[in-house]
Amino acid sequence: MLSRGWSALAAVLLCLFPAVCAWGITGHQIVATIAQTQLHPAVREQLCHILPNYTRYPSHWPVTHSDEPHTHCHLAVLAGWPDTIRTHYPWSGQLHYVNPIDDHPPHQCLYGETGWSSPDNVLTSLVNYTSRVVTEQGWERDMALRFMVHLFGDAHQPLHLTGRARGGNDVWVRFEGRKARLHSVWDTLLIDKQIRELSNYTTRLPSGRIESALVGKRFDAYIRWILKEGLGQPAMKGEAESAWWKDEAADWPACHRRGSDDDTVSLKEPELDVPEYVGRIERDKVIHKQLAKAGIRLAAVLNTLLLPADAV
Ligand SMILES: *[C@@H]1O[C@H](CO)[C@@H](O)[C@H](O)[C@H]1NC(C)=O
Ligand SMILES: *[C@@H]1O[C@H](CO)[C@@H](O)[C@H](O)[C@H]1NC(C)=O
Ligand SMILES: *[C@@H]1O[C@H](CO)[C@@H](O)[C@H](O)[C@H]1NC(C)=O
Repeated sequence: MLSRGWSALAAVLLCLFPAVCAWGITGHQIVATIAQTQLHPAVREQLCHILPNYTRYPSHWPVTHSDEPHTHCHLAVLAGWPDTIRTHYPWSGQLHYVNPIDDHPPHQCLYGETGWSSPDNVLTSLVNYTSRVVTEQGWERDMALRFMVHLFGDAHQPLHLTGRARGGNDVWVRFEGRKARLHSVWDTLLIDKQIRELSNYTTRLPSGRIESALVGKRFDAYIRWILKEGLGQPAMKGEAESAWWKDEAADWPACHRRGSDDDTVSLKEPELDVPEYVGRIERDKVIHKQLAKAGIRLAAVLNTLLLPADAV
């Protein structure tokens, strides 16, 4: 009991430092699950050569002639892992975010070798662990994939890309009637609100690819909503035309910059439940889009890295 009490206390204390409370576990699981829906079936199987057996699950997609299910491994099971080991691996703490120098977005934002305060950060570690998924073996490769899945998420949480006010941890605001740190509004509270308020998309989409990656989590409906209305998946006659990101999603894996990415919301507003802040985030689907982008990009990289040469 005592040691549990202490680790809870340690977790609370750690949350005083920037980015320690990264996208809550839900955000990371959503990104990983969106990626899972986009993986080639052979890549889903490849994951079982890297991740531990408890990430395995039976899947009836793609359809087989026999009743035997395929065995796939799910990226979401360990998506939150790098946050849970931060106390054991103190060196890994700074890999979850980047602090650019002279950082006052949106006016100035310098990255690159002279522009960040530490060369060990979310951008360099993303490259580090992505290449280690190819070069390492055994436990090192497993760990690299866990970090890779996690860091694709963190790199899409806007407050992980600013050191200002310690990534928003020093900014106290009010959200849904409660006092909260701006950082945790973005990490968890906005996502939880959106999941809670969604009442549709409780029924399965006509897509084995998507449904075989949804394994009964409270955010399954939220993911269907994002895929269906945001990306037009699965494609149905005429409907994809009206998807939120129909004109840009194909460019996400290539990291092309779009004008709308530069829209940054003010960090100074104390009451966030107002049309100019939460209203605008929800109207512009800012959170949905960051989660979708992270998942699509993660899947694109894994499909490139891990697709076996003989896959069809
Ligand atoms: C994982 O499952 C596979 C297939 O069922 C089995 O061959 C392997 O021994 C298992 N590995 C461990 C560490 O249990
Ligand atoms: C790269 O990965 C290794 C192995 O986990 C780690 O020791 C090192 O700190 C990482 N560096 C960065 C910048 O991520
Ligand atoms: C599903 O719910 C969301 C959020 O409440 C709403 O914006 C959307 O229009 C709904 N979609 C359908 C097809 O009812």
